[in-house]
Amino acid sequence: MTRKFYITTPIYYVNARPHIGHAYTTIACDTIARRQRLLGADTFFLTGTDEHGQKIERAAQAAGKTPQQYADEISAQFHNLWKRMGISNDDFIRTTEERHIKRVQELFRRIRDNGYIYKGTYTGQYCVSCELYVDGAQPGDLCPTCGRVTETVHEENYFFKLSAFQDKLLELYANPEFIRPEARRNEVISFVRSGLRDLSISRSTFSWGIPVPDDPKHVIYVWLDALANYLTAIGYGSTHAGAQEAFKKYWPADVHMIGKEIVRFHCVYWPAFLLAAGLALPKTIVAHGWLLFEESKMSKSRGNIVRTETILDVLGADALRYFLLREVVFGQDGSFSFDALVQRYNSDLANGLGNLASRTLTMINRYFKGEVPYPSPGASRTKEDNDLREEAQVVIGMCTTAFEAFDFSVALEEIWIGLIAKVDKYIVENEPWVLGEKQDDESRARLATVLYTSAEALRIATALAYPVMPDATAKIWAQMGLGDIKKLELADLTWGQLPLGTKLGDVYPVFPRADKSAIERMQQMEDQQRSPVVEDAKDPMGKAPVAAEAKTQPAVPTPAPAAADGRITIDDFAKIELRVGVVKVAERVPKADKLLRLEIDIGTEVRQVLAGIAEAYAPEALIGRKVVIVANLAPRKLRGLESNGMIVAASLEGGKPVLASFLEDVPVGARLK
Ligand code: MSP
Repeated sequence: MTRKFYITTPIYYVNARPHIGHAYTTIACDTIARRQRLLGADTFFLTGTDEHGQKIERAAQAAGKTPQQYADEISAQFHNLWKRMGISNDDFIRTTEERHIKRVQELFRRIRDNGYIYKGTYTGQYCVSCELYVDGAQPGDLCPTCGRVTETVHEENYFFKLSAFQDKLLELYANPEFIRPEARRNEVISFVRSGLRDLSISRSTFSWGIPVPDDPKHVIYVWLDALANYLTAIGYGSTHAGAQEAFKKYWPADVHMIGKEIVRFHCVYWPAFLLAAGLALPKTIVAHGWLLFEESKMSKSRGNIVRTETILDVLGADALRYFLLREVVFGQDGSFSFDALVQRYNSDLANGLGNLASRTLTMINRYFKGEVPYPSPGASRTKEDNDLREEAQVVIGMCTTAFEAFDFSVALEEIWIGLIAKVDKYIVENEPWVLGEKQDDESRARLATVLYTSAEALRIATALAYPVMPDATAKIWAQMGLGDIKKLELADLTWGQLPLGTKLGDVYPVFPRADKSAIERMQQMEDQQRSPVVEDAKDPMGKAPVAAEAKTQPAVPTPAPAAADGRITIDDFAKIELRVGVVKVAERVPKADKLLRLEIDIGTEVRQVLAGIAEAYAPEALIGRKVVIVANLAPRKLRGLESNGMIVAASLEGGKPVLASFLEDVPVGARLK
């Protein structure tokens, strides 16, 4: 029987325009869903919008619209954005839909019939922004989650017997898979251990919500309404046979993906509601951190969201997907900046995967008329060929483990550092462009093996990266003549499946390089869009702490005196920052015989360096090579291009430069001292 897999994003409030924080949760889920489909699971991926409650009612009022008009507009923005981003959700639920409303009422009835709902009076503080009852707060107190002033509520309400579930919940948390990561699990355990009070689950002082069955003066608490979407979208409470089937098949959810600020609702209230209704519990609730906007751009006016559309217009969806999952350690907070985005795009996509694909496939076109060449039989393969093959196998395993643990950044690091960088090095060392110029049989055979091996490694990297970058990888797959990447059976991925003699498709660059103007363009687009309007006060995009500026100047140490014979002190030497870098791009500078323009990754950034080594080194031979650069040299211009650092080389007689290198493997960014 086919395994099923059901994954959900939270449903998004319709009081805020979509931004890259929302996109982050959605991208993470989409990646998992796509991976599961390739693994053969019958996958259901749900997202949607959360449209009821006092917060939305007030936002609509402020905009001069009815809540429904307001919800329709913003819900459509989310819907359209996900379409544009190629998000592969199977359904998009809106909590104002009839199907949802009826089924939530059914859930309420069931919990009530099971004896877990009673009527009482609530007097206490409520945070409208978080739609949260703040236990123990006094009038004037601030919401512990968003910091806004709470409002005093005194109403007759329906209460849910949350206190009855304290022990059962603690038992549930004993399973480490239930809440991830562990830090969140511990937080929840300590909250529940401190004691649970019954929860008010209806409101009667406003009307924008789902009426309580048999008592329509009350509307159902918006979090009960919203959480229930995970059930209602797949058919819970429906009388239709098809919907009932779907519910039986997909529930319980395999993964609820959420941001860390809504952990309590998902890990305490939600399982308690489900237990009260006698329904099965989700298998895993995974909480990610917040995306913060680059510190220098932070503003208190809350106008600091970054719209997803801006990035889509300039770099495309795959660039954003890759950046967010590669840069942010899943579960922790991470900063977003346009500079970092463009830098990653150029170093990992344009120069990394994109460059590997275009040079491998272009050489197959040039030297083998566009057909995947036949490698030499196993016995005549070199150690390097075998090493690469083994490394690829290891990466397949590591990547699988990392994806399964939601460690997206680790999975991508495996593909890029564990495989793509190694193929680059393999190509540089085997110099297929030199072999390609020779006609003898031995060189032809070696060339065939080198290009086959590179193409096979490229195929594996592409397959593994597909869930993160569905569009670009599909293009590379088609360029390799492999057809539709969605048909790939990921569970069987292994070295050696690239069919020999495959005719390549059209080869073209998948990630054109972005220049500096891309950053300016995106910044301008955002500046034009930014409005000082406060949208969602609890939104973390506006909550990132601004780095405190250094108040005092660092103490300047008194330099030790230089020796009289001209030798320098250790302090003088320490001023020179020598770092290990790896060459990502190398090209000749037009009309300058000696100069090469290099882009060198020094771990923290990619530097453009101009080096007078063109007579000694062919640019292709330098890609992937580790070099030493003087990283803190003041920039200077040569032939109109800025050089930001200097490569260290010995100068032989006659002026021929020889680049400094290492016998042992050294990590990029390592400092020489
Ligand atoms: N409507 C509730 C969820 C109900 S689910 C039954 C809600 N909506 S939200 O629009 O405020 O947030 C939806 C998701 O977007 C959350 O997982 C939240 O963490 C995520 N993000 C919103 N801004 C974010 C960042 N700046 N960074 C990362 N994720 C962020 O909560």
